[in-house]
Amino acid sequence: MWCRKLRQGSRRANLDVAMSTYLDHAATTPMSDAARKAMIDELGNLGNASSLHASGRRARKVVEEAREAIAIALDATPGEIILTGSGTEANNLAIKGLYWKRVQEDPANNRIISSSIEHHAVMDPIQWLVDHEGAKVTWISVNERAQLNVDELIADIERDPKVALVSVMFANNEVGTLQPLARIIEVAHKHGIPVHTDAVQAFGKVPLSFKTLDIDAMTISGHKIGGPLGIGVLIVKKDLKLTPVLHGGGQERDIRSGTLDTPAIRALGVAASEAAQGMSERALRLHALRKDLTERVLSAVPEARANGDAATLPGIAHFTFPGAEGDALLLLLDAQGIESSTGSACSAGVPRPSHVLLAMGMSEVDARASLRFSLGFSSTSQDVDALVSVIGGVVERARKAGQVSKR
Ligand SMILES: Cc1ncc(COP(=O)(O)O)c(C=O)c1O
Repeated sequence: MWCRKLRQGSRRANLDVAMSTYLDHAATTPMSDAARKAMIDELGNLGNASSLHASGRRARKVVEEAREAIAIALDATPGEIILTGSGTEANNLAIKGLYWKRVQEDPANNRIISSSIEHHAVMDPIQWLVDHEGAKVTWISVNERAQLNVDELIADIERDPKVALVSVMFANNEVGTLQPLARIIEVAHKHGIPVHTDAVQAFGKVPLSFKTLDIDAMTISGHKIGGPLGIGVLIVKKDLKLTPVLHGGGQERDIRSGTLDTPAIRALGVAASEAAQGMSERALRLHALRKDLTERVLSAVPEARANGDAATLPGIAHFTFPGAEGDALLLLLDAQGIESSTGSACSAGVPRPSHVLLAMGMSEVDARASLRFSLGFSSTSQDVDALVSVIGGVVERARKAGQVSKR
């Protein structure tokens, strides 16, 4: 029932968004003023960055300046930046591109190792390779705080090192837990196995250096860092070979084809610089805001539990509210102008609990009773006040609604 209601929306008029308390920055965060200005300005300009005439050369200059800014922000070189149409596309390119290349080099290299808490933009391309290309996958388990069991990963590599790639996210998008990537990379590299990370949630929130991490491929998305929707980056080590997923004009080092979106790329360059430069200050502020939010939500709803680990993204607060359906909570909060998220997916009209929470060992009932509040650069203490002022009553109403629907 909640699934249908969620699709239909709550009773709050859809146009009320200006009045919203937005606590869903992990889903998408507003564009920064500077990035928006850069994009609007560039939308007025003509030019395909691959054209040889003056307009094309001008567009190319814009793209290359942005590429340089993105590279500086991520401590990579401009030649390592492959511009894509989204984080999802960058993950597909890393996973399929690496898999195909490694299997071409040695057909025995058909294993993929990943974690059981990846975003669907990683899990689904891997599962596609299993279903259609003969890949074998090991999903490494996590503990109750969503930390990857590194010993299990090491044992799996040592059992059979014929592995095409390892893909483990930098930070989880639902509960925020940071993963032990340095150790994973060290072990994989000992066996000559390339490593990819989905760093979509991490960039701009925690220190991130492509060079220091010594990773082979890393995914970034524009709309999670104050840049535009519909733009992503795969950072790829210079000597790493990938089979293209998109074929055409060969624009991005022959690895990714498609006319470059100059306005979005220029805006991404601006957003990436801001994300890197303001990181420490923003992380401190968000950390304090999240601590306040967590303490006050737990005091308003004493039976609630906070999920995740101490080593976490600064802006994600995730709770289980026993006895209440997360989707009901989401709708009731939305009706009060507060926007949040459950990790559940609606399948055939039935809400399914989040695979991340189940992998953490949560029961289906508890996983369904969970909600994420995520903060971003525009979040304020008034947002926290607004949530705290209603959460107790909302949880009570959701519990009552659940009891009525069970009768
Ligand atoms: C961890 C993670 N990876 C990948 C994606 C997909 O990125 P995009 O929306 O740019 O396709 C998201 C978006 O929610 C995400 O949170």
